[in-house]
Amino acid sequence: MKADLESAAIAWTRPSLNRGLDRVLGPFTFGVGTPMLVYQGERTMILRIFSCLMIACLGAGCMTAQVSSEVPRQPAANRSSALQRCDILDRLEIHAHRGSNDRPENMISAFERGVDRGADFIELDLQISKDNQVIVAHDAFLRSDCLDSRGKSLSSQVFFRNLSVTEIKTFDCGSASKIGRLSPGEKVPTLAEVFRALKDRVTLQGKPVGLNIELKYNPSQPQFYPDRQTYAALVLKVVRESGWDPSRLLLQSFDVGILETLRAQGAEYRLSPLLSEVKDGIAKAKGLRTDTVTPHYGQVTPEMIENFHRAGLRVIPWTVNEVDDAKRMIDLGVDGVITDRLDLFLISKYFCAKK
Ligand code: G3P
Ligand code: CA
Repeated sequence: MKADLESAAIAWTRPSLNRGLDRVLGPFTFGVGTPMLVYQGERTMILRIFSCLMIACLGAGCMTAQVSSEVPRQPAANRSSALQRCDILDRLEIHAHRGSNDRPENMISAFERGVDRGADFIELDLQISKDNQVIVAHDAFLRSDCLDSRGKSLSSQVFFRNLSVTEIKTFDCGSASKIGRLSPGEKVPTLAEVFRALKDRVTLQGKPVGLNIELKYNPSQPQFYPDRQTYAALVLKVVRESGWDPSRLLLQSFDVGILETLRAQGAEYRLSPLLSEVKDGIAKAKGLRTDTVTPHYGQVTPEMIENFHRAGLRVIPWTVNEVDDAKRMIDLGVDGVITDRLDLFLISKYFCAKK
């Protein structure tokens, strides 16, 4: 947990996050003017870390305990809502979107790092190669920052469906990554390789880490994807061969048809419809015989949460990256979040755990 705290604190010193800091300083009142004074003063690393620790509790009120001699006591209502937030944070399942955001996305280094930082689940995306291997990538084509076998930048889009997995492995997608720390020589992984890499990894609570596997699929793009029956069978084979316990897995897609096909093929795993809008979301989940939905965070409202929870569904929104959105999701009582900002949630959990 200490390492997470440190990495989260360092992440907060980045300029874009400091903009977030500006925004949250107003609504957060811990009873001392210190955060603002520190923030406006000389930004030594120590002061920045102290500042970010103070504001990064997402309003959980957790600093009250830390500075009790200087801070007027919070009204009872505030204290109880802080405790409720900590309860929600305690149960909150953290899904690291495409792995950890300080490594090249959807690569094993990003997944390993996501586990190191404290994610409960690693979210990743699937594509299918020309020789029907299940590979891990967000788009139907190589990232533009991959290099070819001669170390040259790509001059045009390279589609996975036109290449065998052996050919895909000739590209280096870590040496010139525009996202996060470089990971020289790293290749696009297969799903089977990810299962092997994370098989024995555990969360900060000592539970086996999970995978949230998004099947990217568009039936109107047959040039990029096999038909649903083939796609589902390929994925199911790899997932079954992994030997992972079903409790460690969530299979999600925007395409409900591919999830229905998985179920029809006997998938005994937890499925989740990705919802750009929540209309029909309960019916979709019931049709899939599942207990989880993954909606866009903008669709999560008090009524939505109440209806979905009453229907026995867990709600895990994507992709919650801003402080204000994180606060709103926690206050609404979501069951998990898919996020690029592990630091935001983990530092808050840390302070709640110390209360
Ligand atoms: O987990 C859902 C989220 O990842 C969907 O968006 O484009 O990042 O795959 P995208
Ligand atoms: Ca995804």
